[in-house]
Amino acid sequence: MFAKEGLEGVIAARTAISLIRGEDGSLGYRGYAIGDLARNSNFEETTYLLWYGELPKTDELAAFVATLRKSRDLSPGVADLIARWPRSAEPIDLLRTAVSTMASDDPDVADNSEAANRRKGTRIAAAMPTIVAAYRRLAAGLAVVAPDPALSHAANFLFMLRGRRPETIEAEALDLALVLQADHGLNASTFAARVAAGTLADLHAAVTAAVATLKGPLHGGAASEVILTMQAVASPSNADAYVARQLADRRKIAGFGHRIYQHSDPRTPPLREMLWRLAKHKNLERWSALAGAISDAVRKHSRIEPNVDFYTASVYDLLEIDGSTFSSVFACARIAGWVAHVIEQHSDNRLIRPGEEYLGPLARRYVPITQRQ
Ligand code: COA
Repeated sequence: MFAKEGLEGVIAARTAISLIRGEDGSLGYRGYAIGDLARNSNFEETTYLLWYGELPKTDELAAFVATLRKSRDLSPGVADLIARWPRSAEPIDLLRTAVSTMASDDPDVADNSEAANRRKGTRIAAAMPTIVAAYRRLAAGLAVVAPDPALSHAANFLFMLRGRRPETIEAEALDLALVLQADHGLNASTFAARVAAGTLADLHAAVTAAVATLKGPLHGGAASEVILTMQAVASPSNADAYVARQLADRRKIAGFGHRIYQHSDPRTPPLREMLWRLAKHKNLERWSALAGAISDAVRKHSRIEPNVDFYTASVYDLLEIDGSTFSSVFACARIAGWVAHVIEQHSDNRLIRPGEEYLGPLARRYVPITQRQ
């Protein structure tokens, strides 16, 4: 039986990691509603929840956080790769290659057991922000900032990117975005990770495939395009005409629409609220007003709702994260889900190999090269 284009509606894995209900716009990780986690959890705890299936007790979280913090430094091989990488490249290309390079000196690389996957996952998740920040700073002509073990995952990420300790609200904003993007069912990059893991390839290989998949503008690349849209609109008063023109020309507006959520994306309300709080705090309310005007205009002309990328992009911009880095920051969140899915895939594996419908010619006779017309 032929599935719909894009495998829409096909159930391709059994999972206990996240539950997405498109019709009522809800999302939960391991049975906890995303809104509850957004209010009460942080990225480290949410990652533990995704990898172990349970919220950690105090000592479990402390040990997990300590291991993450200890694993932020880069190996000489990865540091050298970043130093030599062309500065004009897309940051996500470097991140993909750096994750792959990490396999070369990971002592557990060939071990696909649950415990080894968690150890490797911790090392990759801890190092990814260091990789992203180091490359961003070098590309901007700035000195690399070493990780600060006194800071949380999100606060340290901002510190390494910007070279100054973030304000509390700034670290909270990035932490929120990381929690909300930590997992999302069988999205394209997670599916790619599971397909790779399904061949019994190791975690580094699966994460490399996932980062590669996240690059596309229909997935992780949408956020940086949101900023281009906001810059093109420039003022709330231009939003209506801009959106009407884009839709009339049948052009997609980045940061809107979703394959699963027909009405609203449950990750957007907490981010929207954070955008408004952060903009007020920074006296940049014209930025949140612009985002509001664009989403109102899209809703008016098409009833298509903003997705998580629309608000993460607006928040990242206020955090002074460069647009070229957005998809890499997304990867630093989604690593939590990728690792959880690889552990799940390896624990009950069957090769993922769907069929195909052949549409090409049949029964052709081989013609020797000298006789071809
Ligand atoms: N802007 C304008 N129209 C949009 C739209 C958008 N962002 N998203 C969907 N639509 C329209 C399509 O043009 C299509 O209209 P049609 O039926 O008249 O042809 C319809 O809605 C269905 O869209 P389609 O692209 O087939 O849905 P999909 O499930 O394949 O794609 C996305 C989902 C996310 C890829 C799509 O909404 C999109 O491209 N959004 C912009 C990129 C983005 O924000 N990605 C991040 C996702 S978290």
